[in-house]
Amino acid sequence: MSKGKFLVFGMALALALASGSAFAGDSDKGQKIFQSKCNMCHSVVQNDKKKKVGPNLFGVVGRKAGTLPSFTKYKGLKGADFVWDDAYLDELLTDSKKFFKKIGGKKSKMVVKTADASKRADVIAHLKTLK
Ligand code: HEC
Repeated sequence: MSKGKFLVFGMALALALASGSAFAGDSDKGQKIFQSKCNMCHSVVQNDKKKKVGPNLFGVVGRKAGTLPSFTKYKGLKGADFVWDDAYLDELLTDSKKFFKKIGGKKSKMVVKTADASKRADVIAHLKTLK
């Protein structure tokens, strides 16, 4: 690695560490990913009357999982007993099927696998802006 590249790498690492996570997400990138992979099933508009396959994700970070009153078709999250935070969202987005199974849920219409941790962080950063 050249000295210049090394310096840039060092600064990027320092920035990532300073922001509290090695994968500080980029919400703009996350929004693009959301539009191509999540939008068809999830509205993000507050009090949206249009029904989609999945629950509205406005305000989802900090909300108790599986409890949006206007959504009555929870399967994977039925009876879930936790609040959505970075760690839970990361696990859900890594492999939703595996996640629902782990928490004792039923088979869900949501089947998402995101192997790239930085992409997951981007999507989570976007979800945090939905409030
Ligand atoms: C095929 C439709 C579909 C796609 C695509 C989809 N989801 Fe979902 N999602 C659902 C359904 C259905 C649920 C309800 C889960 C259950 O209990 O079965 C859900 C639940 C969720 C929840 C929990 C909401 C709550 O009220 O607790 C989050 C967060 C979420 N999805 C995020 C995403 C993200 C981010 C993406 C894109 C990477 C995505 N979903 C893609 C259908 C989908």
